[in-house]
Amino acid sequence: SLPPCTLVVFGAGGDLTKRLLVPSIYNLAHDGLISDDFAVIGVDRIDQDDAGWRQNLTAFTQAAASDGTAGGHVGQPDEARWQWLMQRLSYIKGDFADEGLFAHLKERIGQGNAIFYFAVGDRFFAPLAEQLGKAGLLTEGEARFRRVVVEKPFGHDLATARDLNQRLLKVASEDQIYRIDHFLGKETVQSIMAVRFANGMFEPIWRREFVDCIQITAAEKVGVERRGEFYEHAGALRDMVPNHLFQLLCMVAMEPPSSLSAQAVRDEKSKLMAALRPLSREDVVRGQYTAGSIDGQGVPGYRQEPGVSPESDTETYVALRLAVDNWRWGGVPFFLRTGKRLAERRTEISIHFQAAPHQLFRDAASERLARNVLTLKIDPEHAIETSFDAKEPGPAMRLGRVTTRMNYADFFPHRANVGYETLLYDCMMGDATLFQRADAIERAWTVVAPALEGFAKDEIPLESYAAGSQGPAGADRLTGSEHAWAPLQK
Ligand code: BG6
Repeated sequence: SLPPCTLVVFGAGGDLTKRLLVPSIYNLAHDGLISDDFAVIGVDRIDQDDAGWRQNLTAFTQAAASDGTAGGHVGQPDEARWQWLMQRLSYIKGDFADEGLFAHLKERIGQGNAIFYFAVGDRFFAPLAEQLGKAGLLTEGEARFRRVVVEKPFGHDLATARDLNQRLLKVASEDQIYRIDHFLGKETVQSIMAVRFANGMFEPIWRREFVDCIQITAAEKVGVERRGEFYEHAGALRDMVPNHLFQLLCMVAMEPPSSLSAQAVRDEKSKLMAALRPLSREDVVRGQYTAGSIDGQGVPGYRQEPGVSPESDTETYVALRLAVDNWRWGGVPFFLRTGKRLAERRTEISIHFQAAPHQLFRDAASERLARNVLTLKIDPEHAIETSFDAKEPGPAMRLGRVTTRMNYADFFPHRANVGYETLLYDCMMGDATLFQRADAIERAWTVVAPALEGFAKDEIPLESYAAGSQGPAGADRLTGSEHAWAPLQK
């Protein structure tokens, strides 16, 4: 089980805390992983007491359990276990600018291990860390750890990410800082490493000599929901690319690490990021959704969403062509696309292999130059698919495209989870493998900087696409018919 520790959650009244953090802690507790000396202190400006906070969390969890949106054990919580956890929760009403709050926390935590979780807006990240530093709350000792967990967005561009790193590193060392990217908490993303490096058959062909292109898709059906104001300043590129999509890119394209240590894995990711060529403007397509239909229901366009300017030029879709300048990937295009209000919810990576060198079956093939595709399906399905050509039975030589599919659930029929369990567990264990390091984050911002600049100067056209469609037409021009995207299904 995990070491004793106090988890201090700043932003205790927020969505993240009730939807993800507390349910994930419950799932860990349910599995018997949390020690009796574990405690959670929630901090927020909302006026409530311990009982009020617990009551809110309980009501939220019961509602999620009954409408089926809770993941893992928390979908059917065991009453005694839930109460066990609630007894370990306490609440402090406080203002992050008030030094008294930090003195109070210091008294409450005493000499023990502590993790400070910033589940708050990004403008609070650096000031909170500085207050913790000033109060001496980040000083580690022989027998005690002090860690800080920083949510996204980590910076708004290279300059702000660098500034945030510098301010955090003034009060804590790199190994005390855990920068979260929730994609790395996904079972499906972690399993990419196992597929690649636990098997002998994939790696030999996982390179430029055999791969034609790699496509990464993170398509969503949802719009900006209630986050219009946040999204107006972020846009699809900042919201998804330098963090989530680049993490997927690292998983699929990095070199095999020599061990599973945080340093070895993160060194390989950093090397990959360093080889990623900064974007050129002609390799970027941006789009914004207009009114359309999702699941047969009419939905408004982005500019009509609450909190969004009617003249907004914020992108809700981007497609990119990236190049990795190293021996493994030289010349292989990486196509990335992500967007809201698309035809389908689908997150996946597909590796498109080169066609056979000689078209022996030219007359028999249904499509010319058929390519084998290996698809790692991440969300909502968790599966691996391969597609290839096979002979149709019968006297004539005719080929047909077939797909084989491995569903993880058929082999490992175990529970879904909320998504933060592994990340919280690893943070408490002091394993930073699944967290982002300062250098890789800064490099990611460097790679996307030319696109952000092109957006700001309006030098990259903003194309529109109807809600429920495949996205803007420019995305198809980017790939050309040679590397066409797999169509999203309605
Ligand atoms: C978040 C973005 O980080 O990731 C959201 O801010 C996006 O805009 C979400 O919807 C996607 O994550 P998931 O796990 O639902 O694919």
